[in-house]
Amino acid sequence: MTILKRAVMAAAILLTAACQQGSPGENAANPAAERDAVAPVLDTPDAVDIHSFAKPLIARVTHVALDLTVDFDARRLGGTATLDIQKRPDAREIILDDRGLEIDKIADQSGKPLPFKVGAADPNLGSPIAIGLNGDTSRLVITYKSAPDAGALQWLTPEQTAGKKMPYLFSQGQAIENRSWIPTQDSPGIRQTWEATIRTPPGFTAVMSAPRAEPPMTQGGEGIFKFRMDHGVAPYMIAIAVGDLKFRELGPRSGVWTEPSMLDAAATELSDTEKMISAAEKLFGPYPWGRYDMLVLPPSFPFGGMENPTLTFLTPTFIAGDKSLVSLVAHELAHSWSGNLATNATWSDFWLNEGTTTYAERRIVEELYGSKVATQQVALGVDSMHKEMAGLSSADTRLHIDLKGRHPDDGLTDVAYEKGAAFLRTIENAVGRQRFDAFLRGWFQRHSFQPVTSAMFLADVRQYLIEGDKALETKLQLDRWVNEPGIPSNMLKPDPQAFAAVDQAVAAFGRGGAPDTKSWNGWTSDERLRFLNKLPRKLAAGRLDSLEKAFGLNGIRNMEVRFAWLDLAIANRYQPAVPSLEQFLTMQGRRKFVRPLIEALAKDQQWGRPIAARIYAKARAGYHPITTRDLDKLGLGAG
Ligand code: BES
Ligand code: ZN
Repeated sequence: MTILKRAVMAAAILLTAACQQGSPGENAANPAAERDAVAPVLDTPDAVDIHSFAKPLIARVTHVALDLTVDFDARRLGGTATLDIQKRPDAREIILDDRGLEIDKIADQSGKPLPFKVGAADPNLGSPIAIGLNGDTSRLVITYKSAPDAGALQWLTPEQTAGKKMPYLFSQGQAIENRSWIPTQDSPGIRQTWEATIRTPPGFTAVMSAPRAEPPMTQGGEGIFKFRMDHGVAPYMIAIAVGDLKFRELGPRSGVWTEPSMLDAAATELSDTEKMISAAEKLFGPYPWGRYDMLVLPPSFPFGGMENPTLTFLTPTFIAGDKSLVSLVAHELAHSWSGNLATNATWSDFWLNEGTTTYAERRIVEELYGSKVATQQVALGVDSMHKEMAGLSSADTRLHIDLKGRHPDDGLTDVAYEKGAAFLRTIENAVGRQRFDAFLRGWFQRHSFQPVTSAMFLADVRQYLIEGDKALETKLQLDRWVNEPGIPSNMLKPDPQAFAAVDQAVAAFGRGGAPDTKSWNGWTSDERLRFLNKLPRKLAAGRLDSLEKAFGLNGIRNMEVRFAWLDLAIANRYQPAVPSLEQFLTMQGRRKFVRPLIEALAKDQQWGRPIAARIYAKARAGYHPITTRDLDKLGLGAG
């Protein structure tokens, strides 16, 4: 029997179970939702998620209903999680994922207590919760609280917000953080529909990664917000933010949430959103989630963006004033197909989420801003990939990565993003754009709301593109791309002329020439980035002085360009950049910017380490747990 047939049969068995239960609150009235809810849990060895304790083929969660109160003083979310489950007739227990939850009790659908045991904690994964089941158990009601140091949540004081008046809470679920505030099976292959009731203190607004189920209400001074997601989603896609939030419409199905003082700047920067959605639909098929809204967070948000369905989360540092960083939005939007529709079944296949999205992001950029911009972004990406790969173990340069005994974040490298994107560009180049586009649309359609693996991707490429063509099979080197280290010989190289003028300016500066201010002023941010990244890594203080004076690098607003400059400055112990560095590291907490700079400083025992210790002591309180987790290991004394 084929994998697919078995998966469909497993789903059919579980589907029958769901129909027999027919309990209220399930999606009986909504056939599409019911189909999504029982999307198959794959049963091939490569689809077993080593980062979850769940055993979904024995008993699985299909629906999560949260009723949580937001307690800013205690820094806790507390209340109940009601889980609908499906199980094999012989199942005696169900296993959930947990990280530091305080569980009061667990009962079944009729309120009868169920025995449970929280197992020993693994440093990467947290703990399993094993719950004893009876023959008729169809629902679990878990009464619990999150811990004040829950890894997914950041509780900001009023001073850490733009408005300075009200506290703020937000979550980041990917990859395995959500188990610190939601007791469920936290595995991307176990899709679940969900709903939530969120109770806040007066004056706050709660938003989540799902449509509102009802208009917000106030009851006894408490704000009540209800959400419902009728598509089965991976649990990492459940997200929340609570604060002083306002909304501005951008288009018929898009808008932006943020703190009031940020609204104008955010809306202006995001004014191309509706055009991006249309471009993406033309490329990948109809937008499947209804609305596409965005939330612009406070600067401690640890990522550039996070593709929470219907509500992308964005760092405020993408607001450069000139839309020069909106490829970030193209990226998160593209995840609506690659990642959120067709989702990596395990973190070993993270490249299916990020590589496909990076490819798709540049296609959207090409539609909106032209092929020159897109070609340049491809070239920047490939450069960054080569740089990062030089520092990785050979095994970690495979697309399908072995994460045994490790945290999924170990796979968060340019291999997944850029090698993955290069793989798709290579296939596109071999079969032609038209055929490849049709294939990609088909891939998303065939695997809508379902988990996917590398093996499934290769099977689809063979079935729909290669179609037995032996020469094409040899040419593509599919297995080398996915399962072997390094870059296969057939990679489609980026256009060497993408930055011809910039590269000439780099060479001229390298020969001792003065910085070319006129050119710099005419360059895009991508061109400036290329210039800084291609400069010799070792430069005399006088040369750095001349660059700083000519281009005002210490005060540059575009955060990517600023980062590239500070990186160069640290490599040269360039003291005049230290105040700029300190400001950069204390004004935002995006891990991609913060971690490499602090690590580089910390490595430089004599000059850098004292600077790192001083700045980290000051900055740490403003960083998200995801950012501090790695930095604390540097032993700078602030953890
Ligand atoms: N999904 C990722 C962010 C992520 C990945 C969070 C893995 C946690 C674990 C998101 O789509 C992303 O890739 N963000 C990038 C921006 C992008 C333009 C490359 C980021 O945050 O830098
Ligand atoms: Zn991404």
